[in-house]
Amino acid sequence: MNQKILKSGFYLPEIGLGTGGDPSKAVGYEERKKALQIALDMGYRHIDCAATYSNGGVEKFVGEAIKRIDRSELILSTKVSPLNLAYDDLIESVQLSLGRLGASYVDLLYIHAPNMDIPLSETMRAMDTVIDNGMAKHLAVSNFNVDLLIKAQSFTKNKIVANQIEYNLATREKSHCEGCDSMESKIIPFCQENDILVVAYRPVDRGSILEPNQLLDTLSKKYGKTRAQIALNWLISQDNIVTIPRSDAFAHLRENLDASGWYLDKADVELLRREYPLREIKSYRYY
Ligand SMILES: NC(=O)c1ccc[n+]([C@@H]2O[C@H](COP(=O)([O-])OP(=O)(O)OC[C@H]3O[C@@H](n4cnc5c(N)ncnc54)[C@H](OP(=O)(O)O)[C@@H]3O)[C@@H](O)[C@H]2O)c1
Repeated sequence: MNQKILKSGFYLPEIGLGTGGDPSKAVGYEERKKALQIALDMGYRHIDCAATYSNGGVEKFVGEAIKRIDRSELILSTKVSPLNLAYDDLIESVQLSLGRLGASYVDLLYIHAPNMDIPLSETMRAMDTVIDNGMAKHLAVSNFNVDLLIKAQSFTKNKIVANQIEYNLATREKSHCEGCDSMESKIIPFCQENDILVVAYRPVDRGSILEPNQLLDTLSKKYGKTRAQIALNWLISQDNIVTIPRSDAFAHLRENLDASGWYLDKADVELLRREYPLREIKSYRYY
């Protein structure tokens, strides 16, 4: 699995595994735990979760599934809800997450989304405490625009290593997140220029990208890859970008993992950027 590495040496595998997403997918925890175990056996080593996913239920089954893996090989990420960004709430939220995960630390701790009602300086002070206490190794943010990212960095002595944002072929410019800058002209270049990883969430647009499309089909034939692999590879062919597709299906887990290890030609990355149809932004939004 190829990785994207920062100057500090911090890295993320190009393809990780999402565990949040569509609440209408009624798959039980046991089934999801089994899928996660299969994913770990296949070689997934970056698992992305969050305190809010099924009210902590996802962290619980992730904690059970990762017991079989050498912890030093795993990049375990979780997120603090935007409702818990006051100092004491954030510390308590991380303690609860670690309890559910059965872990003494996470590798990456995200602020799940900004909350304008709580001073960012207070939140970042709490994030520093979490690092000082050894509960997290690295700090990250999610759904942050450039202004907020600059502010967040100015309030912490620790480097913010990643910004997790919605980014896929069909959602290239504007995202669902409130107040988010345009992605390709602002937040992504900012991260690339400032040695920050972009973790692209919803990378197959929850399946919509896998519908027939002439350009995608032409490229699938050219590279001998599936539509999903072209869509995922389009993300990771770009500097500093990794991604975290979610899947509970064996065949999709394998297919997504095999989207790494090769790259689209630069000209095809740009062709898709120019010509793949943008999807109209719907109003759904949940973390
Ligand atoms: N930071 C945030 O605010 C935020 C917001 C949303 C999501 N996320 C994170 O990002 C992760 C991914 O986003 P997402 O789950 O919303 O969307 P996604 O990964 O784009 O789509 C997941 C859906 O696509 C299907 N799928 C995946 N790979 C496939 C393939 N190769 N072929 C056909 N279908 C495929 C999956 O079904 P099967 O199970 O059948 O494969 C699943 O229903 C989440 O799990 C979560 O960890 C973060």
